[in-house]
Amino acid sequence: MPNIQPKITPIYQTSVFKFEDLDAVQQYFDEPGSRYLYSRNGNPNSDELAEAVNQWEGGAGAVATGSGMAAIFAALLTYCQAGDHVLCAADIYGGSAALLNLELSRLGITVTYVPFEQLTDLAAYVQPTSRLLLCETMSNPLLRVVDLRAAAAECQRHGLKLVVDNTFSTPALTRPLAYGADLVLHSVTKYLAGHSDVTAGAVVARTAADAARLRQIGVVFGLTLSPMESWLSVRGLKTLRLRVAAHCENALAVAGFLAGHPAVQAVYYPGLATHPQHALAAAQGGGRFGGMLSLRLPDDAAVVNRFMQRSRRFPFAPSLAGVDSSCSHPLHTSHRALTDAQRTGLGITVGLVRLSVGIEPVAELLADLAQALA
Ligand SMILES: Cc1ncc(COP(=O)(O)O)c(C=O)c1O
Repeated sequence: MPNIQPKITPIYQTSVFKFEDLDAVQQYFDEPGSRYLYSRNGNPNSDELAEAVNQWEGGAGAVATGSGMAAIFAALLTYCQAGDHVLCAADIYGGSAALLNLELSRLGITVTYVPFEQLTDLAAYVQPTSRLLLCETMSNPLLRVVDLRAAAAECQRHGLKLVVDNTFSTPALTRPLAYGADLVLHSVTKYLAGHSDVTAGAVVARTAADAARLRQIGVVFGLTLSPMESWLSVRGLKTLRLRVAAHCENALAVAGFLAGHPAVQAVYYPGLATHPQHALAAAQGGGRFGGMLSLRLPDDAAVVNRFMQRSRRFPFAPSLAGVDSSCSHPLHTSHRALTDAQRTGLGITVGLVRLSVGIEPVAELLADLAQALA
């Protein structure tokens, strides 16, 4: 074959790699990283994605996973085994709660949910078997902003690891490892890939030992990502900085518009001066606040349905963070798996609508919202 040098990494759409003979396969095991064996164990595309996310987050190593859920699972298994206890922020993605409540509990890993206000004062929640605290930099769906430096210090005081889901913030705004987190994870499905066409995840470790442990968990549990999804994610990641800037600018304008609209009872966006963690969010996000917000309409399904049916720019699509805007309904979708008590305690009711603000011309988004709310 001629010595061709593609500018972009080609898609290594293969499940396995060939070896000349036994010496060659032995060399693979003697010099790991020098070449590839089997794509579940490692593939140039998934390695490229893991390294790109690792660079963004400033870690010592990372693993790319088949989804954000696989990333959460891998992160929890890095530190937990049967008999262990997890502290989890009460404000958490419903899938994370489902994993803990329905599945990890079966494997002997128990959970206690910590109210937002207590995340930096864990004494009342820590047990002798507690291993870690799981939280989100900006919570889904109410956009509560965790003081990562204080949470990391509190975890250290109690000998706990801090695991941060940075999906909503992205490393373009906040790098949790720099505040003392031990692992940072993503639903790459969201902003990192950014185009609503990939399901993927990633976990980044602060130490090389944890990164090695993560990789082993990825391989042995079969959580790793396919070449094509990795390639698409790498392509998306190249524009993260630009996309996040546009998402943030648009979301700030949308939040301001909604905050002044008589049909809207409340707006949850850290960029609003009235947000309880506005100053913290500004400090942790470099003066920017992300592309996600939630709004409260009357607790009447007919009102919410009317808004969804009328909006053209915010289709009801239960995901987030694509370049095209969308809306979602936490009660019916992302937070279904929470118990009634959890949802009521958080204020996740029928009237709560979550917007993922895209990068379209902002005037078009505001005009659409105006007519949908009229
Ligand atoms: C904050 C957060 N973390 C994790 C996930 C799970 O990611 P995935 O759907 O890629 O498995 C989601 C999905 O919505 C999410 O919003």
